[in-house]
Amino acid sequence: MNILHYQQEFLAYLESKQWVREPKNLYEPIDYILQLGGKRIRPVLTLMAADIFSSNYKKAMPAALAVEVFHNFTLVHDDIMDDAPLRRGKQTVHEKWDINTGILSGDAMLILAYQYFENYESAVFQKLAKLFGKTALEVCDGQQLDVDFETRNDVSIDEYINMIRLKTSVLVAAALKMGAIVAETNEENANLIYDFGLNLGLAFQLQDDYLDTFGDPETFGKQIGGDIIENKKTFLYLKALEVANESDKNKLRFFYQRKLEDNSIKIAEVTRIFEINDIPVLIKEQIKDYTDIAFKTLSAMSITEDSKENLKNFGLWLMNRSV
Ligand code: IPE
Ligand code: IPE
Ligand code: MG
Ligand code: MG
Ligand code: MG
Repeated sequence: MNILHYQQEFLAYLESKQWVREPKNLYEPIDYILQLGGKRIRPVLTLMAADIFSSNYKKAMPAALAVEVFHNFTLVHDDIMDDAPLRRGKQTVHEKWDINTGILSGDAMLILAYQYFENYESAVFQKLAKLFGKTALEVCDGQQLDVDFETRNDVSIDEYINMIRLKTSVLVAAALKMGAIVAETNEENANLIYDFGLNLGLAFQLQDDYLDTFGDPETFGKQIGGDIIENKKTFLYLKALEVANESDKNKLRFFYQRKLEDNSIKIAEVTRIFEINDIPVLIKEQIKDYTDIAFKTLSAMSITEDSKENLKNFGLWLMNRSV
């Protein structure tokens, strides 16, 4: 089955839910962010994994919804933390309402996400809840490191990779493993598909970092240069510090120790330094490396060639995306 099919099935399920209830000021922002679109990558992965390991992937729908609602919760809080004005081409929740609304609606989404696991009988529920708890806490760890790195000037690429593993990859991996858990396949399969997701997730966050600077402002849906404005120690920045000449290194360090009122010169200069040092090429190589590691895990799995092909195509689509 193709990606679009899972996506459509998931959207129909999402739309069958009534999000808005009293108090409206709590639930309307939840409805807003969930209806705003997005690629629905994580729920699609949950459904795909369930389809690979069982004959009834629709059983995984509540778990897929839990993952997507959790993901959207992280986005609402992440946008507050990153001071981001735009999400999926529209105002972020805290811009449209206010920060307090973003905090509490986000909290409610985290709890709603957890509640969807109540659809499963106790053995499956327990496994899902355990994985979810571990994953959610790791995302918090990753988010804290991401913020800590903004004001550190000795971050290594290894530390960056660990940070994106925590803030992003573990959720991609857990989305797949949840599909495997609902399908009640064996531990080995569940762990292999988790590993596949972990490496795919690293490639995915690297691509997100690339698009944050080099994406098309017409289609990307987020503010271009947001990571530069916030002094995010992404692969782009860390690699540039490795390969640039002394004068450009000093310029980068100068800009990344400041928060400015007007960011246009900072964004233009930093982007120029990235470009003349071929950082876009280097990050693309890194993205390909992690995608290839993910594909190696796939080949070790005892699933049909068709299933491998589906997962592989999904990975390739993810890495070549522009949003
Ligand atoms: C954005 O995730 C946050 C990251 C982990 C990079 P997505 O790129 O999956 O966002 P949507 O849901 O498609 O908008
Ligand atoms: C996303 O990192 C990680 C989480 C939301 C947990 P980013 O801050 O790069 O995500 P975007 O770019 O705002 O979507
Ligand atoms: Mg962000
Ligand atoms: Mg962030
Ligand atoms: Mg980003």
